[in-house]
Amino acid sequence: MSTPTITLGIETSCDETGVALFSVEKGLIAHALHSQVDLHAVYGGVVPEIASRDHIRMLLPLIQQVMDEAGVQKPDAIAYTAGPGLVGALMVGSGMANGLGLAWGCPVIAIHHMEGHLLAPMLEENPPQFPFLALLVSGGHTMLIAVRDLGEYEILGTTLDDAAGEAFDKTAKLLGLGYPGGPLIAALAESGDEGRFAFPRPMLNKPNLDFSFSGLKTAVMLEVRRAEASGELAESRADIAASFQRAAVDTLVGKAIKAAESESLARIVVAGGVGANRLLRSEIARRFSGEVFYPRFEFCTDNGAMIAVAGALRMTEAGAAEEIRAQARWSLESLAVPAAKSSGTGING
Ligand code: KG4
Ligand code: ZN
Repeated sequence: MSTPTITLGIETSCDETGVALFSVEKGLIAHALHSQVDLHAVYGGVVPEIASRDHIRMLLPLIQQVMDEAGVQKPDAIAYTAGPGLVGALMVGSGMANGLGLAWGCPVIAIHHMEGHLLAPMLEENPPQFPFLALLVSGGHTMLIAVRDLGEYEILGTTLDDAAGEAFDKTAKLLGLGYPGGPLIAALAESGDEGRFAFPRPMLNKPNLDFSFSGLKTAVMLEVRRAEASGELAESRADIAASFQRAAVDTLVGKAIKAAESESLARIVVAGGVGANRLLRSEIARRFSGEVFYPRFEFCTDNGAMIAVAGALRMTEAGAAEEIRAQARWSLESLAVPAAKSSGTGING
């Protein structure tokens, strides 16, 4: 099989329908994103059935839109998110990708959502070289990963309870902010005093590289209750948001630098939705002696471009033919790139 030059990327694992076209020669040539945030906001979280239905509604029009914009009649390959995520939502992307692959006679490759996130900085002008340390912080995951090469991932640390994004979302809920909470906490924190409340920096002094956010969440909850009881919540909200954000960022940055140093990695990639947090970005850049890479803000959260570039890299490495896949759970450490270009087995879970 010749190397595909244009890869269509499809992301439907959660509450964003993302579509993009990535060209090996030109880079990203078109992308489109439809966020379902408004649909789920009234429920305070993602409703899986609503997510699936909306992906069905939006996916084909978005594919048509990016193809028209880029003037592409048919891509050379299709990459789709096969997991982890909401199975019903994943099935929409998987079914569409495989149906179009059959119609267009092009290869279809299943991509791991988190691999998409950690390869997202490859879309930028100054992409990181392998190896690097990835701090992957999203609504569902908090991971420190030694990325030795494409497909060679070792998870060094993970959260024992809530994900980093979840901690932002739950704190936002306690403060009566909307969903998703991360950007709202960050905005409110700008007018707050981050030194007012000494919230715990969970696990920061433990020698391992794991995270835990439940203690921080409890500390925030107790402070909110105290402020409510004394009628001071309104004037304390920004200080609570700022103090929470500072504690969460200190924890993430401290562990990420410890992981990079212990693995002698001179580059850190920050990816996933929480990677859009400006304080996290500036703190890691200030405190880490090596290089730090991020995707642009819009590609920190879920998008089709990261799936397209991950697909293009994997196609270039291995070539692929895949079965239809949609899986809720999928280990990132099982993603080795197949050695033989002609193996046709794609990536194995
Ligand atoms: O990667 P993502 O879009 O979805 C998952 O795969 O989970 O991440 C979404 C998460 C949400 O929890 C959201 O609150 C958080 O990323 N987030 C932020 C910021 N922007 C998004 N957290 C902190 N600061 C931000 N600026
Ligand atoms: Zn994500």
